[in-house]
Amino acid sequence: MAQLWGGRFTKETDQLVYNFNASISFDQKFYKQDIAGSIAHVTMLAKQNILSEAEKEDIIKGLNEILEEVENGALEITQEYEDIHSFVEANLIKKIGETGKKLHTGRSRNDQVALDMKLYVRDEIQELDQLLKELLQALLTIMKEHIQTFMPGFTHLQKAQPTTLSHHVGAYFEMFKRDRLRLSDIYKRMNLCPLGSGALAGTTYPLDREYTASLLEFDGATRNSMDSVSDRDYLIELLSALSTIMMHLSRFSEEIIIWNTNEYRFVELDDAYSTGSSIMPQKKNPDIAELVRGKTGRVYGALMSMLTTMKGIPLAYNKDMQEDKELTFDAIDTVKGCLALFTGMIKTTTFRKEIMEESAKGGFTNATDVADYLVNKGVAFRDAHSISGRLVLLCIEKNCALDDLQLEDFKNEHELFEKDIYDAISLTTCVNKRETIGAPGKSVMEQVISEYKKYLEE
Ligand code: ARG
Repeated sequence: MAQLWGGRFTKETDQLVYNFNASISFDQKFYKQDIAGSIAHVTMLAKQNILSEAEKEDIIKGLNEILEEVENGALEITQEYEDIHSFVEANLIKKIGETGKKLHTGRSRNDQVALDMKLYVRDEIQELDQLLKELLQALLTIMKEHIQTFMPGFTHLQKAQPTTLSHHVGAYFEMFKRDRLRLSDIYKRMNLCPLGSGALAGTTYPLDREYTASLLEFDGATRNSMDSVSDRDYLIELLSALSTIMMHLSRFSEEIIIWNTNEYRFVELDDAYSTGSSIMPQKKNPDIAELVRGKTGRVYGALMSMLTTMKGIPLAYNKDMQEDKELTFDAIDTVKGCLALFTGMIKTTTFRKEIMEESAKGGFTNATDVADYLVNKGVAFRDAHSISGRLVLLCIEKNCALDDLQLEDFKNEHELFEKDIYDAISLTTCVNKRETIGAPGKSVMEQVISEYKKYLEE
């Protein structure tokens, strides 16, 4: 047992209590950030003449050695320390002796851990953003290739109106683009440095908190020390943003799973991204998509867990808050894994253009366009709607598509139907005539794609 606070105690901590309390098994994840925070802290202490220049140099040298040794494996982070802060401090004292004991001047583990977690989250936000960007890049490639790949658009999972794969994938482009915005908003809002808040009420040392903040590339120092050590809002916001990313990935996964069924066959998953069955030789399962869908619950769970942990905590720091780490780490790692795997899967998926197009022809997806044809000739939409409905009924009787009806059948319903009806309700026309911004028509789709291209180049 190696802990920082033995002084006022007369008895050893019970081993079970020690284990229950310890956080080193998980907070070792931010050893790098802990050391970076300490280096900034002593740099500030020396500037304020709280430490001498020589002491500062010694401590920074020792800290950098610890960092190096942890990274190259020479120094192992072991469970004998209570937390990562104790590990670093104890090893610093081992290395440089008495001066090492000055590291914690004007600091508490409460503001230290608040800082470490913020530094860690900042780094992870950048990695998450990069992964989202790579996914967007993959989506854009698909969009460019499939501007004229027709497919049915669905409402209620029923064929509704024809659209294109490019347009469908573009919907996900918008979602993941918003996810990036959410992450960058969180980054901006959380980017204030808590160090110097002490245990809860600041310290009596003449710290220069703004200087520490600038060394660590924060926009400034936080403005209330009690809030600083007990604020976990940014984690709740992050977990909410991560849940939304998972919700988007899960919806897309669900579509891939549906499109991969024997009934749809819209996609062919790459062998490298699907798995077989131990009993049924014919099986090729979309396990990656299913796992992404499944792991969504786990990330939602982290959000619920964090909200629940925080709801009853009086000011300021309470040990409950240590619970923020494992679940946040797990949620971040889960989302990073899912983003990388999903991107790999979607990049290697083959979209079966012919089958999608064949499917778009069925289900009377051009029934609205039959009505629109009459509207263009002066018929009121409500009347045109019911005429088109009766034609659909006729098709169901004849077991054919609207395109397969005779001109006579059309004319029986309304004399304004002419030969050009066939062209008016062809898939190409139905899609490409939809030219308002946001619609699947070729020209607007090209415009949107070129905007997306510029956005990804920024
Ligand atoms: N491991 C603790 C945490 O994650 C560090 C802060 C400890 N502070 C304290 N007063 N016990 O929250």
